[in-house]
Amino acid sequence: MSDTATLEYKGKKIEFPVIEGTENELAIDIKALRASTGIITLDPGYKNTGSCESAITYLDGEKGILRYRGYKIEDLAEKADFLEVAYLLIFGELPTKAQLDKFHNDIREHLEVDEDIKKIVDSFPRTAHPMGVLSSLTSALTAFNPSVVNINSEEDMYNAVVKIMGKFPILAAWTLRRRNSKPYDYGDSELGYVENILCLMFKKPNEKYKINPKVVDALDKLLILHADHEQNCSTSTVRIVGSSHAGLFASLSAGVSALWGPLHGGANQAVIEMLESIRQDGGDTAKYMKKAKDKEDPFRLMGFGHRVYKNFDPRAKIIKKSADEVLADLGINDPVLTIAKSLEKQALEDDYFVKRKLYPNVDFYSGIIYRALGIPTEMFTVMFALGRLPGWIAQWREMRLKQEPIGRPRQIYVGENQREFVSLDKR
Ligand code: CMC
Repeated sequence: MSDTATLEYKGKKIEFPVIEGTENELAIDIKALRASTGIITLDPGYKNTGSCESAITYLDGEKGILRYRGYKIEDLAEKADFLEVAYLLIFGELPTKAQLDKFHNDIREHLEVDEDIKKIVDSFPRTAHPMGVLSSLTSALTAFNPSVVNINSEEDMYNAVVKIMGKFPILAAWTLRRRNSKPYDYGDSELGYVENILCLMFKKPNEKYKINPKVVDALDKLLILHADHEQNCSTSTVRIVGSSHAGLFASLSAGVSALWGPLHGGANQAVIEMLESIRQDGGDTAKYMKKAKDKEDPFRLMGFGHRVYKNFDPRAKIIKKSADEVLADLGINDPVLTIAKSLEKQALEDDYFVKRKLYPNVDFYSGIIYRALGIPTEMFTVMFALGRLPGWIAQWREMRLKQEPIGRPRQIYVGENQREFVSLDKR
């Protein structure tokens, strides 16, 4: 028999089941709380609230563990490629060669968008942030593919998945092409999934795109490391929008918007901008450490801290090593890498950071790699979105297959009590 937790309220004791996950995580199932007591739980920011049971990603923030479908992130980053990881996340198992080929070929069928999408891209100011444009384009895609909204079978779901896996990189790349006044390009369906992302972004007209395997490998690894992270802000957004049975593309568009914020995926852009401004200010890292600790100063050390990790973010460890390797491989000497390492060293020895368990997160070194790969700063969060796409899809699919109820939190009302209406002439 499973454990129970007892709550005592106004002299009445009520028992609630305790749920145990496969890694022995525990949760009190309070579904019956309001019906039996009239009270609800209050937890702004959901710091202590589980929104679902999920079989996709396991992370232990105290031990610094991250696994997709049971596989260690370190092994996946080293031994798998991004499309294999996408398949694993979405369908639950590593694909056989035949399954992977079929998945890739089905995606290849959708390496195009309606030509009218170009008119929409053209209507954005060139200065628009690529994440805002990407969110709008992802939403607009529904209008051109209305059949993907009503998902009534696994087959409908599969079709929607391969469609968006094919089309999303095109939209992402075109946000850059719009910004740089470059002609829109459909890439090359002969290429690997990650190679084609680079081709979509950087191919020049009338020239064959030259693949640099080192750049492809580095990007592949970054995309794997970003592919899922259980119930983070954007993923929870995707699940909650999808729970109203809004279509997959609408749910993903909301996820892109959530990811954009600097406290979430937007941190990778914020980190490089912070490092660059420290460099331009003479490279005095101690000055910025002091600012980060000053409660009167809004400055935060971007790329540090995490809601769940209270130990090293395992992704940051891999990315830091990779940053050294990629820069050496490509013969790049980026002074902001030295500034980043100096900030990290000081933070890890500083009482403020140690006491609050603030470690570098995934975004601290990723921007340095993106920059070395020739990706412009304002595209960093778009790259994160390209990586997170399979995770969002997997979480949305799991939510729909389990027929989870619509997401609808409650609240404690603290506004005015009922009052008499006062007509305009009497106010
Ligand atoms: N610099 C300075 N102080 C910090 C930082 C930081 N980066 N992060 C947290 N703190 C302090 C914070 O002021 C608070 O101090 P006190 O207890 O004295 O009030 C304490 O540490 C706890 O922070 P919190 O804001 O209550 O923690 P949270 O779980 O609500 O926020 C966070 C997590 C990631 C939003 C936050 O650490 C942060 O703003 N970090 C910088 C932005 C960043 O790098 N975001 C990327 C996150 S990883 C990528 C992803 O989201 O997928």
